[in-house]
Amino acid sequence: MKDNIALIGFMGSGKTTVGRILARSLDMKFIDIDRCISIREKKTIPEIFEELGEKYFRDLEREIIEEESRDNNIVISTGGGAIIDNVNIKNLKQTSFVVFLDCNVETIYERVRRSKNRPLLNNSENLFEKIKDLHEKRQTLYKISADFSIEITSETNLYDSVEKIKNAYILS
Ligand code: S3P
Repeated sequence: MKDNIALIGFMGSGKTTVGRILARSLDMKFIDIDRCISIREKKTIPEIFEELGEKYFRDLEREIIEEESRDNNIVISTGGGAIIDNVNIKNLKQTSFVVFLDCNVETIYERVRRSKNRPLLNNSENLFEKIKDLHEKRQTLYKISADFSIEITSETNLYDSVEKIKNAYILS
């Protein structure tokens, strides 16, 4: 069994919510990478993207994932784009049981459409198409990075998902 659990998945798949419940029920510490980035920069994620650019954000994301992965007994919630970078996958897999929250496009759309916190989706003329496109591009990466995948739909009971993840982790 690895020391940590890392949650990966598209924006709006529920990584933060599931991560908090999971951490509490396994008596582990919860770490949200986006929150760490925000605290370090004293800026919101949209402000970082707008003022410093995506590359700056990705560099920080890589640095913080590397630092946090060295800790133990933690549940790490990653940003939806963390898997784009091989280094992040390598660092996460070294110490964490990696769980993919596999959420369908319709549910993601419903969850993020009013959000102002997702710079990659802001100002999209056709938000549904934008999500569908990005989702398709990333889906393989999520799948091959994961030790365990769990489907998430609008009907999913989060506590059931947490139980399934817990069991898979304990048996790993
Ligand atoms: C991103 C997802 C966001 C955040 C940033 C970039 C992405 O995190 O890291 O806006 O590339 O998918 P959430 O998945 O928590 O929304």
